[in-house]
Amino acid sequence: MSTDSPKTYSIKNYGCQMNVYDGERMAEMFESQGMSAADDKANADLVVLNTCHIREKAAEKVYSEIGRLRRKDGTSPVIAVAGCVAQAEGGEISRRAPEVDIVVGPQAYHNLPDMVAAVGRGERVVDLDLPGLDKFGKLPARRKQPPSAFLTVQEGCDKFCTYCVVPYTRGAEISRGWAELIDEAKAIVNAGAREITLLGQNVNAWDGEDDKGKLQGLDGLIRALDKIPDLRRIRYMTSHPNDMTEGLIAAHGDVEKLMPFLHLPVQSGSDRILKAMNRSHSRDSYMRILDRVRAVRPDIAFSGDFIVGFPGESDADFEDTLSLVREVGHAQAYSFKYSPRPGTPAADMSDQIPMEVMDERLQRLQAQIVADQTAFNNRTVGRTTDVLLERPGKFAGQLIGKSPWLQSVHVLAPDLSIGDIVTVQITDSGPLSLKGEPTMRAAA
Ligand code: SAH
Ligand code: SF4
Ligand code: F3S
Repeated sequence: MSTDSPKTYSIKNYGCQMNVYDGERMAEMFESQGMSAADDKANADLVVLNTCHIREKAAEKVYSEIGRLRRKDGTSPVIAVAGCVAQAEGGEISRRAPEVDIVVGPQAYHNLPDMVAAVGRGERVVDLDLPGLDKFGKLPARRKQPPSAFLTVQEGCDKFCTYCVVPYTRGAEISRGWAELIDEAKAIVNAGAREITLLGQNVNAWDGEDDKGKLQGLDGLIRALDKIPDLRRIRYMTSHPNDMTEGLIAAHGDVEKLMPFLHLPVQSGSDRILKAMNRSHSRDSYMRILDRVRAVRPDIAFSGDFIVGFPGESDADFEDTLSLVREVGHAQAYSFKYSPRPGTPAADMSDQIPMEVMDERLQRLQAQIVADQTAFNNRTVGRTTDVLLERPGKFAGQLIGKSPWLQSVHVLAPDLSIGDIVTVQITDSGPLSLKGEPTMRAAA
């Protein structure tokens, strides 16, 4: 590390969207302190690795990244390890990697400026407090936002699925306050966002009192955000099946800005495995939730997460997962090989599944998911729909945006800009994206 106070920073995010949101807030904090983003991690004065601990050798990846930060002259930037690996490994990180100056958990990063100053005085610092909501109140005002922005409304998890580290790394479920969220949503929209995705490890567990002291759930918050005129689209993720309330399902039927897309992880199609996972829903109760959402919003697209090779998963259990996937016909889905996480109950279960079996199951599951996703995309060809333009494409005049169903749509539209919402007819589709031709321009 260098002893001058850092002037440039670089933040590398791993893991989920909550980390992306946290990374943005760290950047805003550094900017408000007069620092600027480095053009390349290699020459930044301060590097933050915002880590994830959900699967595999996440911690190992962080150690090798730290090694790569060492410069040719033997020095290294000020290095901060933040996020869930920091929370899980703690001071062990700086013992193993002496070049790490700061270890900061996901709920303590508002203290980073003070920690960086302490490093300047020659100290090494570790802050793994889980104070809940403190960080949000101490972060600076929102700055320029992309057309589609994230807003963390809830953190932590009380569900304790037997395979998962999140309840340990992010702490207990906690909801941010109503007024603070409405203010931040307005600030995000004023800073350029047209779409907000509400984030939480269990976002649909959000609750809180509104400005009249009435207890509201996530649907109440969504209905309040619906009233922000320049906000055009609302999404939320990730949800737990047990927190899909009547009110939230109803909102899918009558809040027009709430996009017809639901990411609702089920993990397995086998009741026996769901029970061993401590998921507290069954295959059938899960499928009934999807039916109820479909009943109020027939064009809803579903997405999910799946784990293959949970301890004790038999061929028949896996076939149950495949059949559930076929039944749902996802617009997209994520699938993972089970990864034993130190300290979680499943890591000590007998009957761990051999890697070759997991590999084979994952391949079959992913083939099914790709087939369903391709079929879903094909069904949109010929349809007319709105696209929020989010980034430039590869060719001149091409822009890439998202359909209401979260599909990437390539649009040739030299006269349009990022942030516009354009009505297109879908002309072509593939497994990963669609092509659309503008029909008319929707009011921006
Ligand atoms: N709160 C969300 C998701 C959190 S983690 C939920 O409950 O659905 C994101 C996904 O990572 C999970 O849905 C799960 O599919 C996967 N995951 C979590 N722990 C895992 C592990 N130990 N091995 C493999 N996949 C895991
Ligand atoms: Fe992990 Fe389960 Fe909590 Fe999701 S609900 S974060 S999978 S413990
Ligand atoms: Fe990873 Fe932590 Fe998110 S473990 S998935 S960064 S909550």
